[in-house]
Amino acid sequence: MKTRKLGPHNVSAVSVGAMRLSIEGRPSRQDAIATIHAALDAGANHIDTAYGYRIPGEPEAHNHRLIAEALATWPGGDSTKVVVATKGGHLRAAEDRPGRWSQNGNPAHLKLVAEWSLRDLGVDAIDLYYYHRPDLNVPYADSVLALKELHQAGTIKTAGVSNVNVEQLRIAHEILGDALVAVENHFSPAYRASDEVLRLAGELGLAFIPYHSAGGLAQPGGAERFPAFHKIAAARGISVQRLALAWELALGDHVIVIPGTSRPASILDSIQAADDVLTAEEMAALGADVWG
Ligand SMILES: NC(=O)c1ccc[n+]([C@@H]2O[C@H](COP(=O)([O-])OP(=O)(O)OC[C@H]3O[C@@H](n4cnc5c(N)ncnc54)[C@H](OP(=O)(O)O)[C@@H]3O)[C@@H](O)[C@H]2O)c1
Repeated sequence: MKTRKLGPHNVSAVSVGAMRLSIEGRPSRQDAIATIHAALDAGANHIDTAYGYRIPGEPEAHNHRLIAEALATWPGGDSTKVVVATKGGHLRAAEDRPGRWSQNGNPAHLKLVAEWSLRDLGVDAIDLYYYHRPDLNVPYADSVLALKELHQAGTIKTAGVSNVNVEQLRIAHEILGDALVAVENHFSPAYRASDEVLRLAGELGLAFIPYHSAGGLAQPGGAERFPAFHKIAAARGISVQRLALAWELALGDHVIVIPGTSRPASILDSIQAADDVLTAEEMAALGADVWG
């Protein structure tokens, strides 16, 4: 598979978003592990996870432990070369608020989550650790400083930020310098509040990781709202989700996509986007759907 730079790592342009393997609607553990193995077999070498990916009432580390087990049991190659990116500071809320998430950007908490992540992932250092979502009760710089200290201590190899605006990204870059390698934000044809962040990430030499890449396209009304996406996907004989991933990859060499999956078929479909080359005419038509 084509690779792209994620700081010091060369990772698959289409990587694996693992959240749906641990939250509501998730597959069985066996099927979840089979899904990760199918992605690795197809060339994915970067998995996106977070401390908080679990169903409320269960240990926070559900996704970490699942990934550790999948990597340990993968018969296909050297799983120590797989880059696992995780996040701290965003939690499944209390049992009485099902489905809700909460923030904790307290520096001590971010450091504790990093330690727990080492334990649950079974690694000596975290490949990439994101501050998951800004906690408005804690000055942003204070939370980011915790990541700097984790990097200086060797607990994390590289740092990332997520769900940030331009100002927060600039603060993180100023504090973390070269330790900052990635920014992960909600971005899709239907959701583009991060257009400027995508551009700035490229300018700063950071990877941009969009999540919910195909949001809105496959839902009711998607074909009417995004006619070019549906027309071009049909003409190419590919899924509209795969086309959205190919379009995002074409927006810049610094983009790495992490489609969600709960079954081998969808991640194997998504992975093919790494080889889709869109023509200038197709990009213009898709751009008109999005920005037109
Ligand atoms: N930083 C953050 O705050 C944040 C927030 C949300 C998510 N994320 C990360 O982003 C990743 C992706 O987000 P997401 O899990 O919400 O998933 P998503 O990429 O929005 O995809 C949602 C669902 O669409 C289906 N799908 C995706 N590609 C498909 C394809 N090629 N063909 C058919 N169906 C397809 C999958 O269904 P099936 O389940 O049927 O396979 C998937 O579960 C997460 O796993 C997580 O790692 C980060």
